[in-house]
Parts: sequence; structure tokens; C-alpha cells
Amino acid sequence: MCGIVGYKGHQQVSSVIVNGLRRLEYRGYDSAGVAIIENGHYVIKKCAGLVEDLEKLVNHSQLKGTVGIGHTRWATHGAPTNENAHPHLDYTGKIVLVHNGIIENYQTLKKKLAKNGVEFVSQTDTEVLACFIGSIYEKVQNFELAVRLALSEVEGTFGIAVLCLDEPDMMIAVRRGSPLVLGLGNNEFIIASDASAIVQHTRQVIYLNDNEMAVIDGDTYVTKTIYDQETDSEIQEVEFELEKIEKGGFDHFMLKEIYEQPETFHNAIRGRLLSAEGNVKLGGLGPVRDKIRAAKRIIITACGTSWHSALVGEYLIEQLAHIPVEVEYASEFRYRNPIIYPDDVLIGISQSGETADTLAALREAKQKGATILGIVNVVGSTIARETDAGVFIHAGPEIGVASTKAFTSQVGVLAMLAIYIGRMIHLSQREAKVIAQELEKIPQKIQQILDNADKIKEIALQYKDAQNFLYLGRGLNFPVALEGALKLKEISYIHAEGYPAAEMKHGPIALIDENLPVVFIATKDDIYDKIISNIEEVRARKGKVIAIATEGDTQILTLADHVIYIPETDSMLTPILAAIPLQLLSYYISVALDRNVDKPRNLAKSVTVE
Ligand code: M6R
Repeated sequence: MCGIVGYKGHQQVSSVIVNGLRRLEYRGYDSAGVAIIENGHYVIKKCAGLVEDLEKLVNHSQLKGTVGIGHTRWATHGAPTNENAHPHLDYTGKIVLVHNGIIENYQTLKKKLAKNGVEFVSQTDTEVLACFIGSIYEKVQNFELAVRLALSEVEGTFGIAVLCLDEPDMMIAVRRGSPLVLGLGNNEFIIASDASAIVQHTRQVIYLNDNEMAVIDGDTYVTKTIYDQETDSEIQEVEFELEKIEKGGFDHFMLKEIYEQPETFHNAIRGRLLSAEGNVKLGGLGPVRDKIRAAKRIIITACGTSWHSALVGEYLIEQLAHIPVEVEYASEFRYRNPIIYPDDVLIGISQSGETADTLAALREAKQKGATILGIVNVVGSTIARETDAGVFIHAGPEIGVASTKAFTSQVGVLAMLAIYIGRMIHLSQREAKVIAQELEKIPQKIQQILDNADKIKEIALQYKDAQNFLYLGRGLNFPVALEGALKLKEISYIHAEGYPAAEMKHGPIALIDENLPVVFIATKDDIYDKIISNIEEVRARKGKVIAIATEGDTQILTLADHVIYIPETDSMLTPILAAIPLQLLSYYISVALDRNVDKPRNLAKSVTVE
């Protein structure tokens, strides 16, 4: 979590930093701050609140300077207060620092420093790190050396940008576990947690690796490890269209991203579906094709929405490729010494490519000899770089904290992966053709659902005051129920649970009364009759039924209070279409409740801490 920006160049640094932080605000938004060097002194402005609150402070103070660092925070250690906001100054007043990550041994370091009389003004691990660097700097009087020595004793994760008042021409950025990108402009350098804060200035970037630092000194820079070995970092050109990270006329990023799905889904399948041949082309998997063919099982690991798409993937791969699939929460998997065989293939799914638990699970599997693959959105992200091979979903930047377009594209990629593996083993060309052709029609079917958004808005307004929601689905629609419930709770703060519809009888049925809206994903498939029985059970207890149903199904009209139709498709691809009305339902409920849709409380877009 947290977004970092550092700038050294010829522009007024305060506006560069504030603009950069605005782009990174999806990473955390409970407090923000900036430190700049102005006439040989630090000026530090920080506050609890949003980047726009910081901007007011900064504008009011008319800061002047060309070197500075900034931060937008998602609190880990210490509440979101002015004192805990970054940047943090050390006790000598010389070192100032912004940090993304967690210093795990901060208590030990803090005690050591306190014994020597250091007093702390915040509850953060970051201030401890600033003071620790400061204490070493006092002894060695060499800024870079002090940073390196300190970090070699630090446990945990960090992406940091640091300044030292004695070296006003120098800025140091270091990464372990939390992403950092160095942008190389025209006589200017910009450091940021991701490229979105950089592209306005330059497209030439270096992605720092773990334990790697960038030392910017005057007009030059060097990259090296924290153990002082120079590294040969590759300069890459970021492909990034600026308008993709603007709202483009929509009220919220989330709505824009929901409406982008016909296009983003098309981008996920473009050039990959070989419908006529009944196959798919996934170039990124070429180097590991034989390993995939030989795999006795596949493990998919992910968090949140990506975990829901993994559950859909389990059905798809088992159905089409007949390989057993296990789906694991990355956070659980990594800590239970999982049994991994060298012929296992482990797939990490992550929109951001930076989720700490997913990354750690992949590393664990790699260490145990498995082949690790990524299904990732962000090109250049850590998971994309560390996996043996993978498939990008090409959904473009997803800024809304609630994941929408990434889900549909992930499922699209998983469907193609299932065909890819299936065709290597036993899936017939005919069966593959049917699914591939159906995948091609998905963008237009998504558009059809979006064109009927008004009906969903009406339903949302009727149920906005409900205290609880239940989402039920069976088979492939069970993960969709989980996803629908997650979308609603994270942006509206209404309690919602997703459940396999048949499991309802074993507990949740006790919740049902005339005040409980129950959302059924009741599309036409071979277990349709079973879900109809579950709807009857809810009706018998006076629950309000909102059904997502297949176009042309008239039976459902007699059972449900509200029906939202989606176009017919192959039942294996239903989750892609069924997710869309659920995204819209939660969006409209949240707007009606006046929630901060794009920046829901307590959340951040990517969870780069455990
Ligand atoms: O970037 P990732 O896909 O790895 O993120 C995983 C989850 O943090 C993410 O899906 C989260 O649950 C979203 N807020 C859901 O909308």
C-alpha cells in the first residue's frame, strides 16, 4: 500500500509531487504529505485526509524548490493522523523519508534508538527507519553508506525515497518487496510506486529489483544493490496512454471501467483466439508449454476478486482440460508449508501484479521447484517479472478500488488457457471451436447488458437501505455470487454474503425474512431446476428475490421480484456476463448512499503488505 513520489529536476517540485500523488492515490488515501528542500531547509507539509487536502496546504504555503519527496498513505502502524503521515524526519533533522511497506523489526530498532535518547513523534515504523538511518549517518557522515548500512539490518518490506539535508543534490530510492520505478527525463528524475505518476514526464523507466537502489546525484544516477554492487538495469519504454488514467466524462473510475468492458474483454482475446482452428495462441506460454502439458495438477493462487476468477478457472480447466485444479488463498497457502511437486504448475492471478501474498505464494512454489505462471494486468509489475511465463490480460489501468474489468478479462484469459491446455491433451477441435466462437461474441453481449443499466439502477434505488444482502449461485455461478457480494460490501459498506445456493439450507436460510434481498444467479444451465428450487425456498420465507437470468426465460418472471436478463451464452462463459449487472448494482447502491465509490474507506487498490 501507499504511493511514493520523489522528484529531482528543474520544475517546481511541489506541483510535480502533488500531481504524481493524485495518480497514486488508489494505493492509499488516508493521509498525504510532501517534503521539499527550500533554500537549504526542509519544508514538510502533511495532513490526515486526501491528496486534495494536501494540495490546499501546499498551495497556501507557496513552496519553492526542485527536489522533494511525497507520499499518500494507507495506514499500517499508527492511525491516519497528521503526525503519522509521511514524510518522516529523523531526530537529527537531516534525514527525511517516505516509505511503502512494513519494517518488521521496527520495535527492536526503536528500543535501541530510545536507549540512546531518541524520542519519536509518531507511532510509525517509518519514523523508526528514518531515525535509524539518521543514527548511522551521524557516525559515518556518508548519506549513501548510511542508507545501505541501515537497510542491511532492516527486516520487512520497503520502497523508500530518502533525502539528506547535507547532500541537497542527492536523492536515494530503494526497494525490497514494494514496487519502485525510476523515470529518466530530460535533466530530471522522478521516482514513483508505479509508472502512472511518471508518464507525464517521461516514458523511459527502470523498474528497480528487490534490494536494488537508485542513487541520483546531480545530473547523474547509478543503480546498485544495497550491498554496493552496481547493477546493469535495463531502461524500458512504458506504453501508457494518459487518457486511460483519466475519468473521461464518467462520474467515477469504477463506472468508466465497467463501461470499458466490451473493449477490455476484446483486448484480452484479440489475436489469441484461433476460432477456425478451434485453438488459442498464448505466445507468453511458449517457453513452458511442455511443462504445462506434463503437469499432473495446477494450483491457482490469488486474493480478493482475482481469487474469485481463479475459482471460475478451476471449473473451466477441469472441464476442458481434465487436469485437477486447486485454488488457494495466497495468504493461507504461503504459510502452511504447502506440498508442491516439481511437475506442479502454479498460476498467480493478480490485477496489480504487486499483491504481497500472491507474490510470496509464487516465490514459495518456485523455490520448491514448480513452474510458476502469472495472469497479470500490469506490465512490468513484480509478478509479471518474476514468473517463468504468463499471459497479460491487457485490461489497461484499473483505478477504481473495486475490481471490475480485471475480473472479466481474467476469466476470459482463463477460458483461453483451459482451451490451450485442453487442446494439448484431449479437448476436441469441435468443442474448442464452440467455446472460442462464443468468446468472440462476449464483447457485444456485455454491451447489451450495459445498454440496460437503467433497470439495474431502479432496483438499486429500491434496495439501497437494506442492511444485508445474500448472493447465491451454483456451479460456475457460485464464484460470481462471491464476487457480487464482495463488490457490494466493499463500496457500499452493506453486509453481503456469497454462498453456494444449495448450502443455504445449512445455515444462511435463518437470515431470510421479508427484509432480506437475495440475489440469485439463475442462468439456464444443467442445474437450472435446482436453483429454481432454491428460489422457491427463499420465497416461502418471504425473502425478496433479484434474479440474474438468461434472456428468454419466462418461468423466472413468476418467481422473482425482479429479473435482470443477460444474453444467452455457453454456460461456461456465463460468469463473465453475470458479473456485469452485479457490478452495476453495487455501483448504483453505493452512489445512492453517497459513498466514496472509487476510494472506499479502509481500502487501497493494491495490497503490498501482508
Ligand atoms: O491486484 P490483485 O488482483 O492481486 O488484488 C487482489 C485484491 O486485493 C483485489 O481483487 C481486491 O479484493 C479488490 N478490492 C476487489 O474489488
